[in-house]
Amino acid sequence: MKLVATFWVNGEPREVAIEPHYLLIEILRDTLGLTGTKHSCGVGNCGACTVLIEGRPVLACMTLAMSVRGKHITTIEGLSGPGALNPLQQAFVDHGAIQCGYCTPGMILTAQALLDRNPDPTEDEVRHALSGNICRCTGYVKIVDAVLAAAAVLRGDAASTASTGKEASR
Ligand code: FES
Ligand code: FES
Repeated sequence: MKLVATFWVNGEPREVAIEPHYLLIEILRDTLGLTGTKHSCGVGNCGACTVLIEGRPVLACMTLAMSVRGKHITTIEGLSGPGALNPLQQAFVDHGAIQCGYCTPGMILTAQALLDRNPDPTEDEVRHALSGNICRCTGYVKIVDAVLAAAAVLRGDAASTASTGKEASR
């Protein structure tokens, strides 16, 4: 039997009819059409399905939708404003930290949670925070560079590389 549940998704209240066994990733992708949340392994190993629940990274493929009723959920669609990427998204573009892009939404949301709690992380802290997010394309170096660069921009220690493109050829 379906129950109507309310979630706050990217700041908006959303009412959804759900069965008790529905996973959060099914609600986000199939019901709400938020396909930026990627479905990959489906068993909690890769991090591609990472979203933020109350600001903390959570695997949507391992989370029952019922368990997050009434909570604030942030997906990759909720990070950017109209016509502009957020600093992390921009840094991933500028640093060439995206190849196939399948890991990217989960990587960026995990990195966002890190920067929200630690605005000035070391490289080791970035690598540790991202250790549950697997990328099979990039070798991680450019991803770590992008997160450190975005952190500097967010702290006001550096301008976005969007205007210079200096990092794009690395
Ligand atoms: Fe959820 Fe891989 S799809 S961890
Ligand atoms: Fe392809 Fe990370 S860019 S898996």
